[in-house]
This record gives sequence, C-alpha cells and structure tokens, in this order.
Amino acid sequence: MTIKPLIILPDPVLRQKSRPFEGIDAQALKLAGDMLDTMYHAPGIGLAAIQVGVAARLLVLDVAPKEASPDPRIFFNPEILWRSDERSVYDEGCLSIPEYYAEVERPKRIGLRYVDEHGVCMEMEADGLLATCLQHEMDHLDGILFIDHISKLKRDMVIKKFKKRAKGMQESAAVL
Ligand code: NI
Repeated sequence: MTIKPLIILPDPVLRQKSRPFEGIDAQALKLAGDMLDTMYHAPGIGLAAIQVGVAARLLVLDVAPKEASPDPRIFFNPEILWRSDERSVYDEGCLSIPEYYAEVERPKRIGLRYVDEHGVCMEMEADGLLATCLQHEMDHLDGILFIDHISKLKRDMVIKKFKKRAKGMQESAAVL
C-alpha cells in the first residue's frame, strides 16, 4: 500500500496534458493501485494520475455509496464518445483543491471508451454521479480543473487563496 503525495493548486503540474498509455504493464497497474490507496486514504471518490504528479491518461474512482461495499474502478486512456444534451448539477470538490466546493453543471450522461486493467478496450454508458466524476477526472487529463467551469470571479478568488496558502507553507518550512 503506497499513499502518494497529492499535487495541490496552484502547482502548474496540474495544468499539464497527460499522455496516453501504449500498453498496460505491471508499472501501470502498480500506479493504478497506488492511486486507489491514495484516493481512499484522502478520502475521495476519484483521482487522476496527474494529481500524484504522473502525466499519464489514467483515472481511478469509486462512487459506491458509503454503506455499500467498495467498488474500485480503473480507467486507462478514457475517451468520451458522446454527451447528453440533458445536464445535471453537482456540488464538486477536488483533492487538489482541498476544502473548496462549488456547483458545476455538466452533461448528465456520457458514453465512454477506455482500456481496463486487463488491457481490454471497453465501452460503457454513465449517468448521474458516475458521469460527473468521470468528466471531472477526464478534465484533469487535459489540465482542466473544476474551477474552470465556475465564474471567473469565483475562480480568481480560489486561486488567490491557494497561492497565499502555498506561500504560507513555504515560509513556515523555511523557519524549520
Ligand atoms: Ni479533481
């Protein structure tokens, strides 16, 4: 079990575009396992590889209700095939923007193609929280954060707050 350190706003790494996998090898599977450990430990319901500093098109998630048994899911090279016109709104958060939440509107349903942990190309349809979570994590693979979907005024405020926080952390580190 490996808990990896999370990359936090405003680290520019979060804005990198991730590269696709050419094959699913032991190293890719180890990364996915470590990401699940990191996500459950945080705790969170989704995590993209760039959030642990790896610019690779991989995301993990578990949107099972708290009282249900865990349902870890791994998606390599996910691609959206279609989006519904119908939209839904969720209060979103992000492990890279701790303790900040905002309502984001996204397509309610999506069609998805991805490569699973056995290296098999799969297609699926997602709805509700799963669709939202997949879209949020897939945005990360292109350097997009959920705050990019809110008003510029709100976004600028959050970025300013996290810049201050990062500076404060650097200063306290220097004292030690
Ligand atoms: Ni996120």
